[in-house]
Amino acid sequence: MAKTVDSLKIELGERSYEIIVGEKILDEAGSFIKRKVRGNSAFIITSKTVKRLYGKRLFDSLRRSGFDVEIFSVEDGEGGKDINYYISAIRDLSKFDEPIERVVFLINFGGGVIGDLGGFVAGTYRRGIPYVHIPTTLLAMADSGIGGKSGIDFISGRKKIKNKVGVIHQPSLVLCDIALLQTLPEREIVNGLSEVIKHGCIKSSELFSFIEENLEKIINKNMDAIFRAVSISYRIKAEIVSMDERETLGIRTLLNYGHTIGHAVESASNMRYLHGEAVAIGMVCANDIATRMGFLDKSIAERIEKLLVRAGLPVNIKGIKTRAIMDALKHDKKFMGKPRMVIIKKVGEAEVVDGVSLELIEEVIRNRGGS
Ligand SMILES: NC(=O)c1ccc[n+]([C@@H]2O[C@H](COP(=O)([O-])OP(=O)(O)OC[C@H]3O[C@@H](n4cnc5c(N)ncnc54)[C@H](O)[C@@H]3O)[C@@H](O)[C@H]2O)c1
Repeated sequence: MAKTVDSLKIELGERSYEIIVGEKILDEAGSFIKRKVRGNSAFIITSKTVKRLYGKRLFDSLRRSGFDVEIFSVEDGEGGKDINYYISAIRDLSKFDEPIERVVFLINFGGGVIGDLGGFVAGTYRRGIPYVHIPTTLLAMADSGIGGKSGIDFISGRKKIKNKVGVIHQPSLVLCDIALLQTLPEREIVNGLSEVIKHGCIKSSELFSFIEENLEKIINKNMDAIFRAVSISYRIKAEIVSMDERETLGIRTLLNYGHTIGHAVESASNMRYLHGEAVAIGMVCANDIATRMGFLDKSIAERIEKLLVRAGLPVNIKGIKTRAIMDALKHDKKFMGKPRMVIIKKVGEAEVVDGVSLELIEEVIRNRGGS
């Protein structure tokens, strides 16, 4: 039986939208969308695996609600954020959009990769058309599905730089069916958990303790435990995004905890580390730096590391040259302006610090296994 279990409004003035969470609500997606989104034709962007597992159910639900539907799918994983998929999506979308009576909107049906690619397509096609997120990974439900940040990776020189091209374009609706997580592989659950733990570290000791106490249940896909972790997590993200949508006040920057070094590790590994895995390494490196600079007590850093290790997330770097990570870091403009990082002072309290020395960062990366 389908049941709606939660809803939350993201307050952004005229760009406000709702996140609706339920169990087994995918088959009703068409009627939810009909009530919230203007348009008669849905262009779905998804990944190969999600299309195979759930594409027909979403397609049928939309058809039952009277929508014209087209599905566009990309490869699984980070490779889906390649510019060639963006170009193909725009080409197919524009063909689908040709009949004069069609009013087209997008549906991003998948994980964070699909959300980032699809959000960028929606934000740039005809200078912005409406879109719906239907996140299917823990990471996308708890984090990336909210906030409107989108983007694709771009090859610069010989290196692939993450999120090099992107826009902020808010969705019209986020629809989460937590039952879809039943088919998500364990490595992907753990990967998503990394961002949930990050939210606990920067803003909620309650969330952090909840994960400590319920880790095994979450990994074993106990739906009540997953729902609680996800719902606290997107509330934190929603609150931060509502306060600082375009990251101009330094509040949204706090979400970058673990991401400065994390993104550099992810890029330098050629995306061998999943996003959340790289962020886990980024978090322990940020903690090492904060401890060395006297901001963070060692016992708190150890508590966080212990949880990451228990979850099965990496806390040491394997097979990547320190130089490659430092090079990737130097592509991060936000960082290089005046070397700044998000550090935490205690569980639930984060701060941005300026003037972090590159020598200290390099030393910490080496100590964590950078060769
Ligand atoms: N925009 C933001 O605010 C934001 C925030 C955090 C991360 N991100 C981005 O998100 C991306 C990572 O997203 P992700 O971790 O969701 O990975 P992902 O989108 O690559 O999905 C992981 C894998 O799981 C498969 N999959 C998805 N749902 C499934 C399901 N229900 N059952 C079985 N398989 C399923 C996918 O096909 C894919 O192979 C990174 O590119 C990262 O930069 C964006």
